[in-house]
Amino acid sequence: MIICHCNVIDCERIETAVGEALQRMPASCIKPEHVFSECGTKPNCGCCCELMGMIIEDVAADLGQRA
Ligand code: FES
Repeated sequence: MIICHCNVIDCERIETAVGEALQRMPASCIKPEHVFSECGTKPNCGCCCELMGMIIEDVAADLGQRA
């Protein structure tokens, strides 16, 4: 499912980006801007950030990290 329509970022890509970010900075608090950075892009309208934040929390919880 596409989460960010401006940048065509789907849920699976967000999950991958969170995993990659957590490997590099495990103690950090992952935010949507980290996902955009991992995807090599930037937010445009920002409409997806709230939902992206919820996905980040879920992925981080699954990985035993804090988001
Ligand atoms: S929908 Fe993600 S920045 Fe616009």
